Amino acid sequence: YFLSCIGEESVIATRDKSGQLQVFLNTCRHRGNAVCRTEAGNTKSFLCVYHGWTYGLNGDLIGVPGYKDLYHEDLDRSQWGLISAGKVQSYKGFVFATMDPDAPDLADYLGEVGRLGLDLVAERGELMVVDGVQKNVIDCNWKLAVDNLFDWYHVQVSHASALVSEYITPQVLPPEQEGGEPGPSPGLHGADPYAHRVVLGDYGHAISGPRMTPEMRRAMERGGDKPEPWLDERWRDEPAPREALGEVGRDTRGHPNIFPNLWITSGAQLCLRLPKGPGKTEIWWFTLVDKNLPEEERIARGRRGGLTFGPAGLLEQDDGENWDQSTRATRGVVARRYPLNFSMNLGRGAPTSPESGPRYIDAGINEHAQLWLYRAWADWMDAENWAALKQHRSPVPADPV
Ligand code: FES
Ligand code: FE
Repeated sequence: YFLSCIGEESVIATRDKSGQLQVFLNTCRHRGNAVCRTEAGNTKSFLCVYHGWTYGLNGDLIGVPGYKDLYHEDLDRSQWGLISAGKVQSYKGFVFATMDPDAPDLADYLGEVGRLGLDLVAERGELMVVDGVQKNVIDCNWKLAVDNLFDWYHVQVSHASALVSEYITPQVLPPEQEGGEPGPSPGLHGADPYAHRVVLGDYGHAISGPRMTPEMRRAMERGGDKPEPWLDERWRDEPAPREALGEVGRDTRGHPNIFPNLWITSGAQLCLRLPKGPGKTEIWWFTLVDKNLPEEERIARGRRGGLTFGPAGLLEQDDGENWDQSTRATRGVVARRYPLNFSMNLGRGAPTSPESGPRYIDAGINEHAQLWLYRAWADWMDAENWAALKQHRSPVPADPV
């Protein structure tokens, strides 16, 4: 089993005895105690340690102390199982659950942009999760953390010190100059400020960040069999990923967010931003590695992941500080009367509708994905239920944004 969250509620995800995926609230039906206290493990049942009610792996109530003497066998145990999720479905090994049975099926909910976001990690090969999820709490509103994953404007300033460290500098792409000689570094991940791609998706999914440019492809080719690890995008040209990513996805190298709060990094790490009230967010980091790598290399990559993001990560220490300060500094009665500025490249993003694959915008660094996040959030908050959201949500923009 694995303990996770839906909204602020603790849920248990497990397989039952028949191998079926199950997700239920981690809340005992007697007095509401948590029936599972550990983050992951194996068990045959869930025993509530308050009074001893016991639940099977399918959520059924299977044991009640005093069932004969105190409840006189009148208690209908079939009515007092754990509360099950409304839907549990998976896509390429990623399991999603919702408490609402009226929610769309996962494939429809993800749509082609959500699926592309997950393909950008799932199609890298045979992956496994490095043991252990890194968890920490940042005093910020979760939406600021999501906003930031689309933000390629802050890198040179916020991460100025990280960028000069030996650890991060190998990730900087020297652009090819005339004569094929590398020139000065333009920034993290070779972020050419004019070579960005934004893909906006139904229900609020989005991908935003650098795209593969011909220069990057050439730099990768120069590396031969061993391009710089951060630029090793050869997996994209294998037949299965080519097919899955399509024309649009193949050159999309930015950060996907599966709405609302699952970030997929370009380094095959996944991050959940779990709200704990309006001013606190618990951050969970998962690192995925190729199953077929030698163990030593897998461990090294896991460490590298932990040193990039997460509480010990060079980059996320900078980012977390910003989210914390932005949350504090906008909380005041006066500060919240004034709007924040989202005008970068506004009105200059012209969507392209390709023959196949999702609509996309190629442009300089911009804030289209951030605006889409808040637009979608407002739509969700306005809707009473799924039927209303389906009817009234904003369409993915077809005109310049
Ligand atoms: Fe779980 Fe009483 S609260 S058995
Ligand atoms: Fe950052």
